[in-house]
Amino acid sequence: MCGIVGFTGKHNAAPILLEGLKKLEYRGYDSAGIAVMNGSEISVDKVTGRISNLCEKTRDGGAVPGLCGIGHTRWATHGAPTEENAHPHLSNDGRFAVVHNGIIENYLALREELTEAGYRFESETDTEVIVHLIEMYYKGSMREALINTANRLHGSYALGVICSEDPGKIYAAREASPLILGVGPEENFFASDVTALVNNTRNMIYLEDGEFAELSPDAARVFDVTGQDIRKSPVRITWDVQAAEKGGYDHFMLKEIMEQPGAVKATIAPRIKDGRVFFEELSFSRPDLQNIRKIIITACGSAYHAGCAGRYALEKLCRIPVEIELASELRYSDPLIDEHTLVIVISQSGETADTIAALKECRERGAKTIAIVNVVGSTIASLADSTIYTWAGPEIAVATTKGYTTQITILYMLAVYFSSILGYIAGAEVAYTDEIQQLPSRIQQAIDLNPSAEALAKKYHRSKALFFIGRNTDYAVALEGALKMKEISYVHSEAYAAGELKHGTIALIEEKQPVIALCCNHAIMEKTLSNIVEVKSRGAKVLALTFRNNQKILSVADDLLFIPDVDAVFSAAIEIVPLQLLAYYVARENGCDIDKPKNLAKSVTVE
Ligand code: G6P
Repeated sequence: MCGIVGFTGKHNAAPILLEGLKKLEYRGYDSAGIAVMNGSEISVDKVTGRISNLCEKTRDGGAVPGLCGIGHTRWATHGAPTEENAHPHLSNDGRFAVVHNGIIENYLALREELTEAGYRFESETDTEVIVHLIEMYYKGSMREALINTANRLHGSYALGVICSEDPGKIYAAREASPLILGVGPEENFFASDVTALVNNTRNMIYLEDGEFAELSPDAARVFDVTGQDIRKSPVRITWDVQAAEKGGYDHFMLKEIMEQPGAVKATIAPRIKDGRVFFEELSFSRPDLQNIRKIIITACGSAYHAGCAGRYALEKLCRIPVEIELASELRYSDPLIDEHTLVIVISQSGETADTIAALKECRERGAKTIAIVNVVGSTIASLADSTIYTWAGPEIAVATTKGYTTQITILYMLAVYFSSILGYIAGAEVAYTDEIQQLPSRIQQAIDLNPSAEALAKKYHRSKALFFIGRNTDYAVALEGALKMKEISYVHSEAYAAGELKHGTIALIEEKQPVIALCCNHAIMEKTLSNIVEVKSRGAKVLALTFRNNQKILSVADDLLFIPDVDAVFSAAIEIVPLQLLAYYVARENGCDIDKPKNLAKSVTVE
């Protein structure tokens, strides 16, 4: 999704803005631009395509003098990805420039009103109404103009604004779209996320909905809708800059796959006390949990798949029914939720618009809410009753890997923790905790056991379609395996519950059709084996994912990927790893832009 940056200080702004925009590339975009203020002159440069085009156009920023400015990467929603539609947008009198993330829902009515008032529109965007409103409301005070403008907007926005009559200052506003201030000595910044700022400063102020900011080189002031200053102290970011760099890997995705043992360890370590799982973020007593009639897990994309996989552990250990709902469906489904419902929302970014809306809907209906989130200070983290951070570190590749495995890890831990409070696993708690503590080393083994993933990719990358099959947890992992494959390699991939094949999908099986069969659950191995035989007898080529010494499968599959031996309840976080590697290598064979797949965004902040 779109990204914004802003800078004011004692150095030339353009190179700093361009560096910041490069750090936001991973979010997905199709055009970019910067506006820089030099004295009281605002100059704007915009391009379609990559930031590298903007660097070329501005000679890496050297051709654009000025000590403060704003920048933007645009992921087209209203209007095609053209230079006219790219941000920043200028007011008709050239005194104001605006960058915007989010969607202005009432822009058509505002556009009509502003056109009648004589303002000329140069783009098809919803954003342009903002800059004309600011011009209309400006009577010498930017604070006032910004507040009056915000009062007219319905929808979501993170805004960056400069005004030629306010040299050296950059302004910002936030409503339902992330925006963070970076505070440095004699320089201040804003950006859509911390990764764009962390090279310059570690001190961040998280803006909340309804808050505005006025930044000069010496001060970062936050104010509210009445124009009153709000005191906010910066939070120090502790992860290091290399965490957001490729560190010798060709792609962030491969780096993040390899980081999973460490990331999962970071998720687990602070939550094991005296050999037991413990969440200091939560305060559930046994009666509280006995009062819960059902758990709803809601999320989007891979986070939804993490819920699908974690559900089995929660139901098995806690004996509470668990429903999984796509956030985009739940929000409009008039859900049956009350104070006896525990809702768990999962989101790596903490900013996914549908997940935020679903969370709000559930809260309004009286549910207790827990958020599993990676990005500290994100919207979802601040909305839920309790937030459990995954501590996976920054995830840059659009296709999530360590985000997903750490989310499942938290669900496993919640299952053990709740079950222990409920008194269901007295004798087995140590064994379950041990299983959880073994996850990082087993994930490492799942990486080490599959050097053949690269060669298998060469064999399968030209396939027109890939079918992933499995049962129970294997099916849940198949969903995520198929998503990984399609989103980065563009090979059509779908997951099917193996037992459902004969109700339709088997009609698609023909000679040499690849089928990726997940068989990592001893209890139902024979069942999946029969499905493998069914597809094989119709000519399919089977790539099986199973345990190292699973003789039954070894003898029927054409090709193999392996995981170490593990209890099926906790296997999903391990099973996905070879499938991530396979998807990565297939995408590489197909020459795809692995970290920034076409049409996709890391953080989907619009509906
Ligand atoms: C996008 C990303 C996915 C992610 C989904 C949900 O589609 O490309 O990788 O799973 O959003 O994002 P969230 O930040 O809420 O986990």
